[in-house]
Amino acid sequence: MTQQLKMDEVQPRLLDETGQGVLTTPLDRPEGPLKVTGTAPYAAEPSLPGMAIGVLVGATITRGRAHVDAGSLRDMPGVLGVYTAGMARNPAQGTANAAPVQPEGFVQYHGQPVAVVVAETFEQARDAAIAIRVTYDPEPGAEVDPETASHVDGDPETFGSFDKAFSEAPVRIDATYTTKGHSSAAMEPHAALAAWKDGRLMLRASLQMLKYNRNEIADAVGVDPDKVRVLAPYVGGGFGSKLGIAQEAIAAALAARELGRPVRVVMTRQQVFEMTLRRTETRQRMRLATDRDGHIVALGHEDRVSNLPDEVFSEPVTMATHFLYAGANRRYHHEIARINRPGAGSVRAPGEAVGMLALECAMDELAEAAGLDPIELRLRNIPDEHPETGQTYSARSLAACLKRGAERFGWSARRAPGERREGEWFIGMGVATAARTNSLGESQSRVTLNPDGTALVETDMTDIGTGTYAILGQIAAEMLGLPRDKVTVALGDTDFPPAAGSGGSWGASSSGSSVFLGAKAVRNALAEKLGCPPDELRLQDGIATGGNKRSAIADLLDAPISEVGHIKPGETAETHSSASYGAHFCEVAVNAVTGEVRVRRALGVMAAGRILNEKTAASQVHGGIIWGIGAALTEALEHEPRDGRVVNRDLAEYHVPVNLDVPDVEVEFIEERDDHANPIQSKGIGELGISGAGAAVTNAIYNACGVRVRDYPALPDRIF
Ligand code: MOS
Repeated sequence: MTQQLKMDEVQPRLLDETGQGVLTTPLDRPEGPLKVTGTAPYAAEPSLPGMAIGVLVGATITRGRAHVDAGSLRDMPGVLGVYTAGMARNPAQGTANAAPVQPEGFVQYHGQPVAVVVAETFEQARDAAIAIRVTYDPEPGAEVDPETASHVDGDPETFGSFDKAFSEAPVRIDATYTTKGHSSAAMEPHAALAAWKDGRLMLRASLQMLKYNRNEIADAVGVDPDKVRVLAPYVGGGFGSKLGIAQEAIAAALAARELGRPVRVVMTRQQVFEMTLRRTETRQRMRLATDRDGHIVALGHEDRVSNLPDEVFSEPVTMATHFLYAGANRRYHHEIARINRPGAGSVRAPGEAVGMLALECAMDELAEAAGLDPIELRLRNIPDEHPETGQTYSARSLAACLKRGAERFGWSARRAPGERREGEWFIGMGVATAARTNSLGESQSRVTLNPDGTALVETDMTDIGTGTYAILGQIAAEMLGLPRDKVTVALGDTDFPPAAGSGGSWGASSSGSSVFLGAKAVRNALAEKLGCPPDELRLQDGIATGGNKRSAIADLLDAPISEVGHIKPGETAETHSSASYGAHFCEVAVNAVTGEVRVRRALGVMAAGRILNEKTAASQVHGGIIWGIGAALTEALEHEPRDGRVVNRDLAEYHVPVNLDVPDVEVEFIEERDDHANPIQSKGIGELGISGAGAAVTNAIYNACGVRVRDYPALPDRIF
């Protein structure tokens, strides 16, 4: 039976009253030992009998037609076939995560896959992929620089009278920031293993949102979705690059069908950089103005991003700017330069991650112009209602996070720029707001309680390193009055009920709500068996009590009880502005001779509704802050100026922070329940930590040495 409940029918406090005490514990990930011992099977690891290996071939022009000469491999040993992009329909044209396999071999960016070469062994396939002859008819019109692009989409959007308010305000700043492109750079490269049996495709892959991925791959290979099963029980990081299917999955599926053998395709690290969706570079002009009391009267955020000519997605740079601060007069102008760099898509916290690098740095500049402490400026501008839509805010603990962080971090010890020095190091502190929109996606989970006192949760939700296995098991255990180790969680299989997937920070709340509802239905069935009203049922440590009855849960059951919980976004999405909030604090040392920046301390104080597992939630924030440090100091996709190719296409050249770049990062949560978010009152946490984090670093650099870095990342030559 399927349980569908609307938001307002849900008892929001149930999880506070169950009393099992599992949900509040910072439990380890149940699958952790499998991962650290190398026994969790990631997509590329299983083998199938008769499996062949495919290697992708990337284009060496920027724009034009590719002709793949399969005959050039005639004498190569072990080669089984060459399959070209032209065999696939463009799988997701017009969607936010179009996998950029263009039909008919038309190349739109340097490095775009034009073929997959399949052979008996990986070495043979790699050899043939290097040897294959591809000829090109380049077409004119390739453009790779977003600043000089001849095709730019986008329109301005204004609230109130921005120009008048800005020009008449007594305190103003007008500053332009730039950010470089970023790569998702997940540890696990994109990988797929495809096998066909009786017209049905089994695809084992590294993907974030299986419900959608199944449709995408079905569309790409031209079969009905019910002929496709996608498996992704373990995913070694996604960060957005695995939201939609990519070329390795299509290549494996097509080649496997043609050959009648299972085919595995794994991208090389370089191909991950060249072929998967990047985070766009941005240019952002911020114009902020206040009255004499530090209240914002005008707020302008105008940006330019880029993407391929026909892609629908564009980085929503101003996402947080719309709802974070007050100000009646507002102006936006979002421009999308149409260029032939690799496709741009969602990368962790699309919008906020780069938009807040500019917004939160501009707030720091505005605070100085207004003669206010940057925390005080933010506190004065927390709006009563959404400044553009008039919506009410659901739970919002921004002020509490800023105040608590200031106290814990020792903000009162902050001095004016240049005043703290230790030897050749300038020392400074910075602050920034964290904010990330919160949403809910339709999700289903099957919850089964067995007579032996164990339970099973099944959903096609993924765990991309985020802790899904842990939290879904905790929710079920809490609701069913079981120890955590009595609950098994099975994820990542489209044969299970469909979930919203891991994306947009909605995964935990959405799939968690469906588990809550499924378990609640199981509870109701148990109450009936025990003979008590559902409201009176108490389940704890395997014992059910209610009314004057008491029984071991196992004794109530002669067969498993199985219920599917089904959550759908409710009406609160329209009536309330829902986001997670926090405050980032950072202390840096800037070398007065070299301009080298060392992050010495970082603290994030976050509020995201109910925290389902403090350990996995804190891990998300740690990772976000570390990425913020990377965005502030080192990470930058570099494109060759003539052909747009990604130059620094591996982790030796694309610099993510390593241990020595990262101090002990502290994370604290402010207790919160969000009654408008979902039945479990939790909000998104996955992308909150990165949002604003980098601005706390650059603001600390300014406070240390008086140099305002507006072009990210703050490499030493941008400081002195
Ligand atoms: Mo996220 S960029 O929606 O994985």
